[in-house]
Amino acid sequence: WRLNLKEIHDVLITIAKEAGSIITGAKPLTDGVGSKKNSVDLVTETDKAVEKMVSHTLCAKYPTFKFLGEETYEPGMHLTHHPTFICDPIDGTTNFVHQYPYVSISLGFACNKEPVVGVVYNPFTGQLYTGVKGEGSYLTNTTSGERQRLPLKTPLEPLGRLSDTLVAIEWGSDREGPNYENKVQTFGNLGRSKEHGGAMVHSLRSFGSAALNLCGVASGSLDLYWEGGAWAWDFCAGWVILKEAGGMIVDANPGRWEIPVDHRMVLAVRPSPDGQGQREVVEEFWSFVVGK
Ligand code: IPD
Repeated sequence: WRLNLKEIHDVLITIAKEAGSIITGAKPLTDGVGSKKNSVDLVTETDKAVEKMVSHTLCAKYPTFKFLGEETYEPGMHLTHHPTFICDPIDGTTNFVHQYPYVSISLGFACNKEPVVGVVYNPFTGQLYTGVKGEGSYLTNTTSGERQRLPLKTPLEPLGRLSDTLVAIEWGSDREGPNYENKVQTFGNLGRSKEHGGAMVHSLRSFGSAALNLCGVASGSLDLYWEGGAWAWDFCAGWVILKEAGGMIVDANPGRWEIPVDHRMVLAVRPSPDGQGQREVVEEFWSFVVGK
């Protein structure tokens, strides 16, 4: 494939801003809120409207590429090696419904199953995160126009002990069964004091948008992000942004250092000078995961 990644990056930014206008203009939110799998798996008319606009625009401009979107996904659809746009129209739908402004549109592009372009835009704060394979990743303040290379944190200290980390976790929409119990026990292990067998991390955060969590890790302010049930549309765009910042992504459960972008259980690790401490903190983290 002869791909113009810069052009795709620019097109995705234009679409993300248009989507942002739809999202911030959509009121009242209480109209048209429904659920999919259960009462906490929310979807709104705005999710669907944004995905429709995104898919129509991309399919018209790139008719030979594939499109994978959260709201039009059906069981049995798989990510292939074909160039594919991977879209979450509103990542953080629960936040959107509650008007908690940690919401993003997540637009990724993958080829040979490798994420190569990512755009994550929070229309409520104007923060635009972008990344292109081999070109680095950036945060642009769309109000002031200021553009900063990721990671943002200065000084960026080497990753050290797990107990010094700030860790993002998510509850997800599964609220019963062994996966739920394992997740809750793992959260407990991470927070508990060392005297009682825990990791006693600095703290746990649950913000509600996988894509923005990955951008927080890419920025260096979150050290780790552990997710048990995400989808490719939650991760594709943020994956590029994190890797281009020098972060890494591994299995949420012990043992796998290389995972595909459509893997559902993911541990994201922040950039560190020369990658120092990244593998060590992952090994330490894995020792506290329940239900391996
Ligand atoms: C969800 C959010 C949440 C994550 C879930 C996702 P949605 O996406 O990213 O943080 O924990 O796994 O499904 O449903 O708001 O697009």
